Amino acid sequence: MSLEQSIKDAFKGVNYPGYSRDIMSFGLVKNLAVANGSASIELELTSHNPEVAAQLKASVEAAATSVDGIDRAMVQIKMPPAGQAPAAAGAQPNRMPGINKVFAVASGKGGVGKSTCAVNLACALAQEGGEIGLLDCDIYGPSVPLMMGVNERPMVSPEDKLVPLMNHGVKLMSMGFLLDGDQPVIWRGPMIMKTIQQFVMQVDWGTLDFLLVDLPPGTGDAQLSLCQTVPLDGGLIVTTPQEASLGVVRKGIAMFEKVNVPILGIVENMSYFTAPGGERVEIFGHGGGASEAERQGTAFLGEIPLFTEIREGGDTGVPVVVKDPEGAPAQAFSKIAAALRARLD
Ligand SMILES: Nc1ncnc2c1ncn2[C@@H]1O[C@H](COP(=O)(O)OP(=O)(O)O)[C@@H](O)[C@H]1O
Ligand SMILES: [Mg+2]
Repeated sequence: MSLEQSIKDAFKGVNYPGYSRDIMSFGLVKNLAVANGSASIELELTSHNPEVAAQLKASVEAAATSVDGIDRAMVQIKMPPAGQAPAAAGAQPNRMPGINKVFAVASGKGGVGKSTCAVNLACALAQEGGEIGLLDCDIYGPSVPLMMGVNERPMVSPEDKLVPLMNHGVKLMSMGFLLDGDQPVIWRGPMIMKTIQQFVMQVDWGTLDFLLVDLPPGTGDAQLSLCQTVPLDGGLIVTTPQEASLGVVRKGIAMFEKVNVPILGIVENMSYFTAPGGERVEIFGHGGGASEAERQGTAFLGEIPLFTEIREGGDTGVPVVVKDPEGAPAQAFSKIAAALRARLD
């Protein structure tokens, strides 16, 4: 391995102060050169923050000189002048204090079971213990209120923050709580983004081990800028076998890569159906998720068959993971939750 590569590997252990994400995944390292045991390193911050710069300088120096063969490190940190708005790039200062890990659930289009996965994974993670939050950013079809069996106006705290609602052991916030009944959402792009960005940063989550974000379906500009608004530690992609085989998953991966968000893996939903007679029917084909994950060099986290109980859980507000934790449908989700936890730790 080259010394440059060893240094980059060492930087993966250097977190951005206050974040659980490292400086490599944030894309902060702009230049790195090695000559005669000396490393010269240039970092670029997206906001003016001398305190962060000083901390990073020290930890980057230490990480670089911890590499065998590197005796000295010269670290230069660039940042915009004071008073300038931060650029819309990977490392955003919009940190969410008190939250350990934040990850988003994305899909290529609607109807593949993204929200079903987000809801059941949140409940499965909560069952294992730990504080879990679920943020529904899907303004086109906020389904978390229905699927989690909660639909109330959230209270506003004395600090003017939205207080999450709670059900099935999960703290919840959804645009759906704030919208009026069946009124269709007809806001235009910039308006939508502004609203969601404000919404996202105004929730009083308290402390959380994991926050799951249900993104709007698709991988376009709106989803991309949401990924920039929320400081994400990872992205999860839900696909059907057939969607995966059409290469839609690739767009999801590209979206997360553009904002330096690590891909946690792919979940294949609606993998197959077991007929009452026991016959296995692969309605949308099968294995597309796994083979696409392999092609893309990312993890395959598991598959979820079609089960009537999953759909019923969604419609009645009691997710199948809560209703029947020992059943096969719940187990499919629990396995994926365990794989996710392992990837995030
Ligand atoms: N594995 C599954 N088995 C049975 N029904 C499912 C499954 N996954 C999702 N569904 C149902 O399909 C519909 C669409 O799922 P949803 O999670 O709302 O999709 P998305 O959020 O991607 O638009 C819902 O009615 C949901 O209950
Ligand atoms: Mg949805």
